[in-house]
Amino acid sequence: MQAIRFHQYGEPEQLVLDEVATPGIRADEVLVRIHAASVNPADFKFRAGWFKGFVDLALPFIPGADFSGTVEKVGSRVDSFKPGDEVFGMRDVQVGGSYAQYIAVSTGAIALKPKNLSHVEAAAVPLAALTAWSALFDHAQLEQGQRILIHAASGGVGTFAVQLAKLSGAEVIATTSTPNLDLVRSLGADQVIDYRLVDFASAVRDVDVVLDSLGGEGQAKSMSTLRRNGLIVTLQPPGVDAILAQRMQVRTALVAVSANGTRTAELAALLDKGALKTVIDRQFPLADAAEAHVRSESGRTRGKIVLTIS
Ligand SMILES: NC(=O)c1ccc[n+]([C@@H]2O[C@H](COP(=O)([O-])OP(=O)(O)OC[C@H]3O[C@@H](n4cnc5c(N)ncnc54)[C@H](OP(=O)(O)O)[C@@H]3O)[C@@H](O)[C@H]2O)c1
Repeated sequence: MQAIRFHQYGEPEQLVLDEVATPGIRADEVLVRIHAASVNPADFKFRAGWFKGFVDLALPFIPGADFSGTVEKVGSRVDSFKPGDEVFGMRDVQVGGSYAQYIAVSTGAIALKPKNLSHVEAAAVPLAALTAWSALFDHAQLEQGQRILIHAASGGVGTFAVQLAKLSGAEVIATTSTPNLDLVRSLGADQVIDYRLVDFASAVRDVDVVLDSLGGEGQAKSMSTLRRNGLIVTLQPPGVDAILAQRMQVRTALVAVSANGTRTAELAALLDKGALKTVIDRQFPLADAAEAHVRSESGRTRGKIVLTIS
């Protein structure tokens, strides 16, 4: 099969199209013929070697976490899926493997693809939406009437977080920049702050939860927008400065997304009935994965970048 791999850490040009063996499957796995795979910022971070020393990948490495495709073959103990089923799901980013024509994946990591979505739209969902879900509901237990500040609301995670927060009945305040204000409003945000024009820390007070996608100096400013004992959930390891958080009397959490087929099926139900939608930034053919990484690294992605695979 064809797959994109990098043989050493480095620039996007390290991503090359290789001919590799089609993976075999274990008894509890299915082999999926991939039609579309999404690009997540973690993909370029791993490629560039940001996590070298913490997570040493077996090189050459096929990047890519989430995918949508058709079940080609099932393992001897699989009875929940059959060949021909259209499915979507993810593997953990450090396992990778979705920038390829085929992937072997455990049945616990996939769900039937929403019927109303194309493979491109479905591939865009799992990692970003599961991250948003985990932040909002596992960590923050967000509920009706609470107020949440969602940063980077126009990005992959943010576009799902805004919609899921609204579905829970929360009041959503979101940050993005001028070209994306209308998009974020259309996803349901009650208040959208153009972070390039307005200092969000002076415009927001007493929120219950902050979803911090960005880390850095924004974290301390974000803590100042929380009510006493409010929660900042970050997506950026190693997490929020605990001493500062204690001084500011706020709680902290760090998300580490992982595959979850049951929850992916719940997302599929929301997508099928139109309660949740995907926003596609750009599509690239698999062979142009390097170009897709350049786009992802720009930090300007609006929704999700997807690779199409034939
Ligand atoms: N811990 C985990 O399990 C986990 C899971 C998923 C993602 N992550 C991490 O979370 C981060 C976000 O992921 P993502 O997929 O959502 O990224 P993304 O799609 O690349 O985010 C791009 C978006 O960020 C917005 N943005 C950039 N700077 C901003 C700022 N200062 N204020 C507000 N918005 C800003 C951009 O809007 P403008 O163009 O308008 O600036 C753009 O729409 C990444 O670092 C990713 O690696 C971690």
